[in-house]
Amino acid sequence: MNVIEVLELTKRYKKGVIAVDSASFTVEQGAAFGLLGPIGSGKSSIIHMLLNFTKPTAGSIKLFDRDIATDFHEVQSKIGYVPERPGFYGNFSAEKNLRIFANLYGVPGEYDERIAKLFILAGLEGKETDRVHAYSLGDRKRLGIAAAMLNEPELLILDEPSAGLDPQGRRDVLALIHELNVHDVALFLATNNVKSIAEICEVVALMKSGRVASPITTKSFIDNIRGTGLQLEADLANMNERVLQAIKSVKGVRSIQCERLKINVDNIPNINEDVNYVITRAGGRLRSLRESPSLEEAYVRMMGEESVE
Ligand SMILES: Nc1ncnc2c1ncn2[C@@H]1O[C@H](COP(=O)(O)OP(=O)(O)OP(=O)(O)O)[C@@H](O)[C@H]1O
Ligand SMILES: [Mg+2]
Repeated sequence: MNVIEVLELTKRYKKGVIAVDSASFTVEQGAAFGLLGPIGSGKSSIIHMLLNFTKPTAGSIKLFDRDIATDFHEVQSKIGYVPERPGFYGNFSAEKNLRIFANLYGVPGEYDERIAKLFILAGLEGKETDRVHAYSLGDRKRLGIAAAMLNEPELLILDEPSAGLDPQGRRDVLALIHELNVHDVALFLATNNVKSIAEICEVVALMKSGRVASPITTKSFIDNIRGTGLQLEADLANMNERVLQAIKSVKGVRSIQCERLKINVDNIPNINEDVNYVITRAGGRLRSLRESPSLEEAYVRMMGEESVE
């Protein structure tokens, strides 16, 4: 079954801005779907229509096989939403906030136990009674995810879940989202961060100026933007002949430029780890190893060149 079916969806705002231009795509049950596009490309507009916050100008949306133009109330309880900036009552404890939301969403039965479990799941154990004012942005995002999970949704819609977070906060939030997906919650994740997509989405659709391209697997997307070759830039504390020979012996290594140790390699899984491993084994001391172009660089270059069709 498809959890989302969008057909020729268009949104034109009052001043004539076409934010979404005849977008069509589907998201399967349990899938991790990423909508990837730059600022202003129309991602949030799509989310707002999926959540029935705003009506499409044209086109249709089915969630769980129901047309939401008429039957949104029938599927509402199966959907969780994590906005870019989750809003809470800052003066209340995190726990009280979740109780307020549980009431608001009409979460049935005794929900104290569920709330306690959600704090554990979100990695916020011990912070239940802290006021939300005192929460870091990362913790706030995780609390936002916990709130969205109150009604045990089958589909979680996330708008820029990692925006504004430091690398550790980003990793924690993405790990939590991935964990939910592993437990069969379908994800619809909108972001302009290609790394977030690479880390948790199986399928990605590119969005540019309101147009949504056909979804493809994240793996083929990354291969497309990266090409077959890659360069690793290594910073070695003690480069010597033994280390160089070891690197050359790694399957996938094409050539080496020695001035600043640039290693041309095939874009194959684990090449980074393989090179790293042989350097260390040959007695080299590696200060850093970066991929060039990085995934972000490749993505920005591709978005600058291509139109989305
Ligand atoms: N309520 C509105 N009224 C008029 N124009 C709007 C409205 N909301 C969004 N837009 C415009 O629609 C276009 C798409 O905006 P949207 O917020 O959907 O993009 P986005 O991809 O989510 O961007 P971001 O990455 O900044 O979150 C933009 O040109 C934006 O200015
Ligand atoms: Mg947005």
